[in-house]
Amino acid sequence: MRLWIMSDLHIELTRGWDLPAAADRPAFDVLIIAGDLIPGAERGVAWLRERVADRPVIYVMGNHESYGGDIDRTLEKARVAAEGTNVFVVENECVRIGHVIFAGCTLWTDFAIRGDAYRGMAVAGERMNDFKKIRTANYRQRFLPRHALTRHLTSVAFLESEMRKRRNGKLVVVSHHAPIPEMTDDPGGSGEDHTLDPAYRSDLRRRLMVSVPDDGSGALQPADLWVFGHTHSSFDAEIGETTRVVSNAKGYGPWPGHQRGWDNPNFNEKLVIEI
Ligand SMILES: [Fe+2]
Ligand SMILES: [Fe+2]
Repeated sequence: MRLWIMSDLHIELTRGWDLPAAADRPAFDVLIIAGDLIPGAERGVAWLRERVADRPVIYVMGNHESYGGDIDRTLEKARVAAEGTNVFVVENECVRIGHVIFAGCTLWTDFAIRGDAYRGMAVAGERMNDFKKIRTANYRQRFLPRHALTRHLTSVAFLESEMRKRRNGKLVVVSHHAPIPEMTDDPGGSGEDHTLDPAYRSDLRRRLMVSVPDDGSGALQPADLWVFGHTHSSFDAEIGETTRVVSNAKGYGPWPGHQRGWDNPNFNEKLVIEI
């Protein structure tokens, strides 16, 4: 099965870029959109349906989908918009297409990747727009890092239970947030400010990327492929035992007046992975 993979298209901050026209697309069987397509996920569903009508689309909400709205209402509206169509909006659930099971969730993070989750939450709460622009509890409350943490734990438990089910096909996880720390050959790292890493990444390698023998709740068999977004970078490596981890994010842009100016210069709008 050929998977056409991308994320963070940020249509709200994009001028002059669109999904390649039908004649210019790579050969693919399923399109995967790993979040941050556009604020208002039902608009994202409509955007996708206008462009891809004849093949399944797996669409996971990013953090930006809920900007200006209530996080659960946003998901509900997107599910209604997608019902009965070729677009599957997945949050803590699976879709089976042929021999491949797609398990999707936004994922969020545990804020612990730098060791101090309390500090990670405090900094993220102060600096991330997520905790200013998203509502929860039917619009009554501001969405806070502790809400994100709760959602992260729920999604990790969901993914673990899927990995513990016996399966006779491939498992592809699609999340918006990253399941691994930043990896670079440069001992000094990428040189960027990592203060907000805890809001972008959690380290799920030991929990979800190593097989575990049956301890009474089923043997854990890690995913074959894990697609993520959110960090506006490209990544492709085998992690743990069997999991190929891939990110292909465009990020913001092109900006007016710039032809190919988007966040991630390595973004490949025709990336297809066969599974
Ligand atoms: Fe993004
Ligand atoms: Fe994001």
